[in-house]
Amino acid sequence: MTFISIKEAMNKGESEVSIRGWVYRERGSNKIKFIVLRDSSDIIQCVIKKDAFSDEKWNSAVGIQIETSMELHGTIKKDDRAPTGYEISVNEFNIIGESDTYPITKDQSPEFLLDKRHLWIRSRRLSTIMKIRSRYVQARDEFFRKEGFYRFDAPILQPNQCEGGSTLFEVKYYKDKTYLSQSWQLYAEAGVFALEKIYNMGPTFRAEKSKTSRHLSEFWMAEMEAAWFDLEKVTAFAKKELKYCIKKVAEDCSEELKILERDSKELLEMVEKDWPTIKYRKALKILKEKSGMNVEFGKDLRTIEEEKLMTHFKTPIIVTHYPKEAMAFYKPKDPEIPDEALCFDMLAPEGYGEIIGGSQRSTNIKEMEEELEKQGENIKNYDWYFDLRRYGSVPHAGYGVGVERVIAWICKIDNIKDAIPFPRTMLRKEP
Ligand code: 4AD
Ligand code: MG
Repeated sequence: MTFISIKEAMNKGESEVSIRGWVYRERGSNKIKFIVLRDSSDIIQCVIKKDAFSDEKWNSAVGIQIETSMELHGTIKKDDRAPTGYEISVNEFNIIGESDTYPITKDQSPEFLLDKRHLWIRSRRLSTIMKIRSRYVQARDEFFRKEGFYRFDAPILQPNQCEGGSTLFEVKYYKDKTYLSQSWQLYAEAGVFALEKIYNMGPTFRAEKSKTSRHLSEFWMAEMEAAWFDLEKVTAFAKKELKYCIKKVAEDCSEELKILERDSKELLEMVEKDWPTIKYRKALKILKEKSGMNVEFGKDLRTIEEEKLMTHFKTPIIVTHYPKEAMAFYKPKDPEIPDEALCFDMLAPEGYGEIIGGSQRSTNIKEMEEELEKQGENIKNYDWYFDLRRYGSVPHAGYGVGVERVIAWICKIDNIKDAIPFPRTMLRKEP
């Protein structure tokens, strides 16, 4: 038997086919058994009739349960009553792996499904999201290759903080300790003096104490860093990257998006539009005038403020020039307006909030040292990083995309946990 996928079988139309997969649904009587089989491509209804088999074979069909793995051979034909419009009349089948009574049934709690995540990833919903995630990551690789970037990898075990000491995960390191990466950035800043234009995607860790629908403790950040880029250039580049990836996903995954009830046309239209760039001070003005919300200059935007702000936009936007005092140590102040930093966030519409964070990088060792000292850091640990400013520094900039945040938005799902196969949060580190 030469096996083909369920999707290929349906494309063939009326013919003899051999397929294999897992039982998605089953029901039957003492004469006939209906099986909906799934593989990674689709699902299809298959009919096993008692008359066509020996008693022994028929008895084995009676015992088929949900998630039994099997291969089967038969005639495929169109049938409007079947779930995907096709049905296979089975004339041969083999059970590969029997299944115990499957623990996942309808209407189970989100916590139960998270406990059974290793099985739940087989669900149509999660496998659809994982397909979209896979296409997104491939599209991003294509984009950076076309733009002439090198892939550059940084260590995951790092002696320094990048985004504030309070969310570091400490790791025992022989007789010493070290930390899990909060960002690829500091090492990328070393890399750009060798390769100029680099990117990566890697696991990233934050001991976030917030239990929100957008925070994970372990997530994937997709970062870029480039020599000779300033704030203006890097923000334009971020829009270009996202537009490229969203377009590819919308074009190639329209069926998957439909399963998730996300209209791919909406995404394609969004890509064609201009995505505004505004300054933080302008964002505060919009919040005040259009939402009656008074936010004082000086802090990062909170979730609620981002949400309110984005009710006034139909596309992603970029907000630049956040208050210097609230920003990470490597974000430089604007020489013209010193209380503002040369940094940016990209915010997604439809309530998804910040999806990208980035900036131009400071070249002022003294200012960075002061900033770190204020945060109680030992500046000796950053001496290697300051070397990058001592030996032929050039202007450079970069950003990080929160992959799960973008996937959650593209798929229009309400919790970031479903954008990653095995989520890690403050309250969950298993399975
Ligand atoms: O804004 P962040 O903290 O920026 C940085 O780490 C920079 N060092 C990146 C750079 O310039 N190379 O994080 C970047 C993005 C955020 O915009 C958000 O989308 C995502 O990473 N992110 C998280 N996603 C899920 N769970 C979390 N706990 C996240 N923290 C940040
Ligand atoms: Mg940020």
